[in-house]
Amino acid sequence: MGRGLVDPEGTRRCGVSKPGGEKDHKPDTRLVTAGRREEWTQGIVNPAVWRASTILYDSVAELKERQRDTHHKLYYGRRGTPTQWSLAEALTELEPGAEGTLLYPSGVAAVAAALLSVLKPGDELLMVDSAYEPTRLMCDGLLKRFGISTRYYDPLIGASIADLFGEHTRAVFMESPGSLTFEVQDVPAICAAAKAHGLVTLLDNTWATPLYFQAISRGVDLTILACTKYVVGHSDAMLGSVTAAPGAWARLRQTTYQLGQTAAADDAFLGSRGLRTMGVRLARHHENGLTVARWLSEQPDVARVIHPALPGCPGHDIWKRDFSGASGLFGFVLKGGDDQARAALIDSLELFGIGFSWGGYESLVIPADPQSLRSVTPWQAEGPLVRLHVGLEDPTDLISDLRRGLDRFVAARS
Ligand SMILES: Cc1ncc(COP(=O)(O)O)c(C=O)c1O
Repeated sequence: MGRGLVDPEGTRRCGVSKPGGEKDHKPDTRLVTAGRREEWTQGIVNPAVWRASTILYDSVAELKERQRDTHHKLYYGRRGTPTQWSLAEALTELEPGAEGTLLYPSGVAAVAAALLSVLKPGDELLMVDSAYEPTRLMCDGLLKRFGISTRYYDPLIGASIADLFGEHTRAVFMESPGSLTFEVQDVPAICAAAKAHGLVTLLDNTWATPLYFQAISRGVDLTILACTKYVVGHSDAMLGSVTAAPGAWARLRQTTYQLGQTAAADDAFLGSRGLRTMGVRLARHHENGLTVARWLSEQPDVARVIHPALPGCPGHDIWKRDFSGASGLFGFVLKGGDDQARAALIDSLELFGIGFSWGGYESLVIPADPQSLRSVTPWQAEGPLVRLHVGLEDPTDLISDLRRGLDRFVAARS
């Protein structure tokens, strides 16, 4: 099977003009070239699917030699093959200043590994109040059981986060924009404050991806993606990643290996394949999302639209300052009505599928109820909240669909 295939020292890559040249390239170019080392692709455009558990060695001496440093060497299936390394390296190259990336079987698994790599019993974690529900459950369940306490903070706290730092505070977790309520956080200010106190910072950057928000260069130590969303992009695989700044890399790798975490080669392949078109897909999500959001904001039965790129979204000025685009996920609050009237709207939609997750090419809708998921920033609204993921369909069709839905809502409300 060609055991000499993987040359750890090799740096030549297909489609890249010179070794290391990718550092100077624009993000859209890096999306195409990153991670495609020739010794991993063997000249094939897309890295092949290398499925493996056992790796065979020529001798005991070779086995022992390989054990000394397993990074980017075929050692045992759990440590990956060129299929996983290629995607991981591509994600690292999209985050200037990052040291490395590891892959996980889901976004939630990536959050868990990142948190466990920095926390120990007795530590306190500062967690944003608008965190994704399973992240919150992890803090209130798993971490609590291991003697790690969590204090929730206002997503708009900015540099004042320093007022919360106590003797046992070890890390600050951000998610920007927040889940369901889309508050945009001042990530650079929070990271600067944390750094001044020797704390570690983590960010769930799934909404923006490194294309619209580069986290490591803004001071984040560990940036997390649910690759299930925009990286895979086709709603057909579960995958997560954590990309680390140099100071956080060794602990992340050690913890991930000790947890036995790994991503399947087939899923990594789907991630790599999705990544190459993520730029054009995101540009369309940005455009379509804004078209639909602007239309919704003009409808008399919509109280407000919560879209980071529209004024009125909490933290919109920070989005303008820090982000280079918006993805297709946002919310809108209905004027009056109850759960039933909201269900009448959602059930009547034909182009928006009712389902969890987002980031695929298709439009989705869910009823969103953040009230039980906020402890320091109570959710108050003029009516029920709806979350949309605007896909790649023609936005005029999506608007017609929503027009019908709003008519059903009005009929059910009165
Ligand atoms: C912001 C955010 N982070 C993490 C996740 C978890 O990703 P996964 O579904 O791959 O576990 C999700 C999933 O919806 C999410 O919305």
